[in-house]
Amino acid sequence: MSQETVLIVGATGNIGVAATLAALRSKRNVLALVRNQDSAAKLINYIGSDNGITIVEADVISPDGVQGVVDQVKAGKLPAFQHVIATAGGAYTEAKLHKLSTDDLRWTMDTNFTSNFYAYRATIPYLLEQNNPNASWILQTGFQGEIALRSGPAMSLSALFGMATAAIRELKDTNIRFNEVRLGMRVETDAAAEAHGTHKSSKYANVLEKVLNSPEMRGGLIRVLEPDGLENWKFEQNQSALIQITMKKVHPGTFQMRK
Ligand SMILES: NC(=O)c1ccc[n+]([C@@H]2O[C@H](COP(=O)([O-])OP(=O)(O)OC[C@H]3O[C@@H](n4cnc5c(N)ncnc54)[C@H](OP(=O)(O)O)[C@@H]3O)[C@@H](O)[C@H]2O)c1
Repeated sequence: MSQETVLIVGATGNIGVAATLAALRSKRNVLALVRNQDSAAKLINYIGSDNGITIVEADVISPDGVQGVVDQVKAGKLPAFQHVIATAGGAYTEAKLHKLSTDDLRWTMDTNFTSNFYAYRATIPYLLEQNNPNASWILQTGFQGEIALRSGPAMSLSALFGMATAAIRELKDTNIRFNEVRLGMRVETDAAAEAHGTHKSSKYANVLEKVLNSPEMRGGLIRVLEPDGLENWKFEQNQSALIQITMKKVHPGTFQMRK
């Protein structure tokens, strides 16, 4: 079997570096979608080699950004991919809700949410068409969407929660294994993590590698709360998908409670 490739959207970020390491450690190649060559150089510097990495430039907040990459893949100009890890983002504005300017709101939603939505919309038809039974899609989100200590990031991340729920439902009977990984701790590239006392991308890579390599993780909301948490993982089927699956059984109970 030829080597698989993971398309990583947001490959140069804290999580993108972890995703790149996860793919390489699992003996897959990487198609790294980057903003520009400066960002590409940053990625190769973090990883220490460009072995197994193909770089492609795109603007993830343009509707044509990831679509243009998929078009090049289809034209045979870039390697075919079987997996996607979507981790574009980085808008972390501190403004209070009532002080969030229109520009800040748009920038935050575009950077954290719309980017990943466009990635989904561009790549899913391709993966369905390929019909590879091992295909997978991982969406990186975070607890900020639940705890809302920062209003802009919270709103954009919770929009991703809805997107994940819809994706899980819509992809349930397809070849694509979709999972949301919701992170509740701070991960940074290794040197920054050491300087700030946060968690290292190289370690968080273990989590993404596990999701990439676990066919039983399908339609899941994977909450990552602890740095060494591989054995302490809470793996839950996404709640809405569960409700959908058990709708008939749940409904009479709900009705009874309301009486
Ligand atoms: N790091 C954490 O601890 C953590 C925790 C919980 C949740 N998350 C979530 O995980 C996601 C990624 O976080 P992160 O810490 O990795 O953020 P990050 O370090 O800021 O990385 C964001 C990535 O998105 C790319 N990007 C943003 N706008 C782009 C554009 N217009 N065109 C091309 N690329 C663009 C960045 O490219 P450049 O490198 O060129 O800027 C970078 O690769 C976010 O949604 C965040 O909320 C992260």
